[in-house]
Amino acid sequence: MRVLGIETSCDETGLAVYDTEAGLLAHSLHSQVDLHAVYGGVVPELASRDHIVKLAPMLNKLLIDNGISKDSIGAVAYTAGPGLTGALLVGAGFARSLAYAWAVPVVPVHHMEGHLLAPLLEPEPPEFPFLALLVSGGHSMLVDVKALGDYRILGTTLDDAAGEAFDKGAKLLGLPYPGGPALARLAESGDPAAYAFPRPLCKKPGLDLSFSGLKTALVIQVKKIPELSERNRADLAASYQQAIVDSLVIKSLRAAELTGAKRLVVAGGVGANRLLRARLQSDFAARGGQVFYPRFEFCTDNGAMIALAGALRASAASDDLAFSARARWPISELSPLSEASHG
Ligand code: KG4
Ligand code: ZN
Repeated sequence: MRVLGIETSCDETGLAVYDTEAGLLAHSLHSQVDLHAVYGGVVPELASRDHIVKLAPMLNKLLIDNGISKDSIGAVAYTAGPGLTGALLVGAGFARSLAYAWAVPVVPVHHMEGHLLAPLLEPEPPEFPFLALLVSGGHSMLVDVKALGDYRILGTTLDDAAGEAFDKGAKLLGLPYPGGPALARLAESGDPAAYAFPRPLCKKPGLDLSFSGLKTALVIQVKKIPELSERNRADLAASYQQAIVDSLVIKSLRAAELTGAKRLVVAGGVGANRLLRARLQSDFAARGGQVFYPRFEFCTDNGAMIALAGALRASAASDDLAFSARARWPISELSPLSEASHG
């Protein structure tokens, strides 16, 4: 079956067609970065309006450019949450209308489940069960994944998400939105040992994360330097990035020890961070484990992960004309496939 995937939870419009036999057939992405950059962050109303404008022409182009007939699509999957309510409703309404016009069912998809399953789009996908580190702009969590839909949250952030920590740190260093990739780039020329930043909660047992104290430590450090030189900024970025990555690596290894997991999946926007990828790769391999990532472009929001999750959850498809979106939606509320198909 071919599934069209639609992602509009935040500031990226993503579309893709996934075929359960042939794999990913096509995908396209429009980033709203330029639209929001002047405001220093995502403006929800502008995000919704831009999704409305982009979706239909992007879909036409995707199908035409890749020679995909609309008649070959067997279901439409869309991100139903979590995310910005208005942005989600645009995607949900578009998906539901298309499905009605094409007389195919719709599959609501959980955005974080999309991220979690994104490594399955790669040529050597991980097998279940695995441990997942989900690190995005809105979420940071360690999840014990027994099977599709069987998710136990082992630890989560008590305050800011890892991506948020990157974004707020970047803002303090005068970097443009979106801050994560900009801070990582600046860090490349800095000394990660130049400043001693805390690794919150790492000395305490447990798998929860915290990043707001780290951000405060950066604020205090920045205030101590009357005029930041390029060297200061690069050193601060490198030391700050090192502290975030250390926290994520320490907690991931601890979770692997507690669960005995041999496979670790890293997904979500912060999964594109090169230092995090390299550190997890080497530290996890050293204890006989294997790490799986989506390719860089599928770490951040995209339609391919939603089309894939929709295809895997096709048994949960519905012909109900009502559609919904949930701004908040814990991933642990999802059900394994067999139960979902009855739900
Ligand atoms: O998954 P995502 O695209 O959107 C959400 O679902 O939130 O994640 C976006 C987050 C942003 O906070 C962004 O700054 C961060 O991922 N990010 C990075 C990198 N690329 C994206 N953080 C650190 N290093 C990167 N290379
Ligand atoms: Zn995301």
